Amino acid sequence: MKRVSIKIVALLLVGLFLLTGCKEKESEKQIENQNVEKVNYQKAIVIYFSRAGENYSVGRVDVGNTAMMASYIIDYLKCDSFEILPKEPYSDSYDEAKKRANKELNNNARPEMANEITNLDEYDTVFLGYPIWCGNLPMIMNTFMEKYDLSNKTIIPFNTHEGSGNAGTYKTIKNKLTSSNVIEKGLYLSGKVARSEDGKKQTIEWLKSLGY
Ligand SMILES: Cc1cc2nc3c(=O)[nH]c(=O)nc-3n(C[C@H](O)[C@H](O)[C@H](O)COP(=O)(O)O)c2cc1C
Repeated sequence: MKRVSIKIVALLLVGLFLLTGCKEKESEKQIENQNVEKVNYQKAIVIYFSRAGENYSVGRVDVGNTAMMASYIIDYLKCDSFEILPKEPYSDSYDEAKKRANKELNNNARPEMANEITNLDEYDTVFLGYPIWCGNLPMIMNTFMEKYDLSNKTIIPFNTHEGSGNAGTYKTIKNKLTSSNVIEKGLYLSGKVARSEDGKKQTIEWLKSLGY
């Protein structure tokens, strides 16, 4: 009788050992997979449009607010970047720039770009940055989105503004880029915040929340 119960206890111990051993292997596998996913996720580029000059609330600046925000992402991820430049630069005057932006929006214009990106296929994630203009995307963002093949890429929008938030533009981008994986958990900062240490901190926290 004693021998039988010793055998049962021994069998139970072996079973327990095998079970926990399997569990450990499974979690090791999960960690491996997580690492693989992270490597793919990080083939990112920051593409942005920003205007220097006289602006609402921050005065005259040499580096635009969105460009500041873009620089935090570029520095943190140590990734490549591309600045969308207009063929015809926008006026340094806020009022003049606003007049032109309004006209372009009303005409559904596609302002030409002055530069080209030739290696977009190397990246699977695009951080897409812009200011809110006239409650919308600057029209040159449409020029960019129509000119380049962004299908099968993850698009992560971010923007600066002076009260409009993202003005529904993350949805606009999602509706436009139907073959892309548009992440709606973007980040928007007001111009002043974008130029501050707090803006940098918020940008890094946001990147961390996305898994970077
Ligand atoms: C032409 C123009 C139109 C703008 N329209 C809006 C707007 O509708 N809503 C808003 O919140 N901010 C608006 N702004 C403010 C900008 O979104 C804000 O200053 C932004 O941070 C500018 O970014 P940038 O320096 O990268 O160009 C406008 C600014 C300009 C120049």
